[in-house]
Amino acid sequence: MTDQFETLAVHAGAEPDEISGGVSPSIQMSATFRQDAVGKPRRGFEYGRSGNPTRQALERAIAALEGGTHGLAYASGLAATQNLLYLLEPGDRLILSDDAYGGTWRLASKVWSRYGVKTDCVDLCDHDALAAALSEGPPARMVWIETPTNPLLKVVDIAAVVDMAASAGALTVVDSTFATPFIQRPLELGADVVLHSATKYLSGHSDVISGLLATRRDDLEEKLRFHQNAAGAVPSPFDSWLVMRGMRTLAVRMERASSNAAAIADWLTGRAEVSRVYYPGLPDHRQRELVQRQMRLPGAMLSFELAAGEPAARRLVETTRLFTLAESLGAVESLIELPAAMTHLSATGSPLAVPAGLVRLSVGIEAVEDLIADLEGALRASST
Ligand SMILES: Cc1ncc(COP(=O)(O)O)c(C=O)c1O
Repeated sequence: MTDQFETLAVHAGAEPDEISGGVSPSIQMSATFRQDAVGKPRRGFEYGRSGNPTRQALERAIAALEGGTHGLAYASGLAATQNLLYLLEPGDRLILSDDAYGGTWRLASKVWSRYGVKTDCVDLCDHDALAAALSEGPPARMVWIETPTNPLLKVVDIAAVVDMAASAGALTVVDSTFATPFIQRPLELGADVVLHSATKYLSGHSDVISGLLATRRDDLEEKLRFHQNAAGAVPSPFDSWLVMRGMRTLAVRMERASSNAAAIADWLTGRAEVSRVYYPGLPDHRQRELVQRQMRLPGAMLSFELAAGEPAARRLVETTRLFTLAESLGAVESLIELPAAMTHLSATGSPLAVPAGLVRLSVGIEAVEDLIADLEGALRASST
């Protein structure tokens, strides 16, 4: 019998310690490992960059939660992104979602362009636009989905994009940071690799920077593993342990945060100060049917615009008490930000530029009445 997600989240990679029986996994800090003979490491571990038992436990855990066969851990979400981009060659083309994390765009357009990789931004909800992009220009080797998109919360049909990309000979990567494996499972929909900024929901407490990949493809794992060691952007054993500890409560945190976000999105739609709310759980969301088919819950990220425009939005994000003005997302505490001036500043003037007055919320697990009261006070104060 296969365990349910909630059970896997608690147990995957968290075997009791073999020596002490400790039920919290041990942190193995050693940077190097004794060999029984020349070239004969004891349990496959020889040097901490190439492999470490604590990191391996985390890698097994993300593989299990994503329904993959391989997991790989990195020092940040962007280090995991970088590792995936090593799969490309000069002359290749990357097709990137036109609404995505600004740092992914920065890495592709400002760094990889120097090595002959071209990036085209496409609205992946528009399948005609994707078909055109796949058939034009140099070979499109990789399609990079981020869903729900950041920060406009569009939802991309993973299975449909995978089909189109595969027919054109391109790999499909899904940045599933906003959704987590509790909400959506891209590998089951045919994606080649799923990526997480584990800094966010997987660790869940704003206390670690980390990135994860999972795949079912042995050939990709071999290449990714080579580059993980060759480039060396691996998480420390302690960071690996922190991410694993967070993952054990993922299911309960996501349920609570998502139900808080749904209540807040609903409340915001009824406010005169608010002109538009973006949230996959709203009945008028553009991809309502897809949300219900692809996602277990609508998630805990939402964004909105104010009728009074950008100056009021700036005042709002500087006025809330419980919603902390900060970049990042996905932790127990609620955060608020202005993407155009913060997380997506590097996308200014690019195809990924976001509306100047857009406010993004990462809804946490506090009491929803307190969160709404906080927003209500700040909306009143900022929109007058
Ligand atoms: C959707 C998404 N992907 C990737 C990243 C990059 O992750 P990290 O900050 O851990 O490098 C972020 C960071 O905000 C993100 O929001």
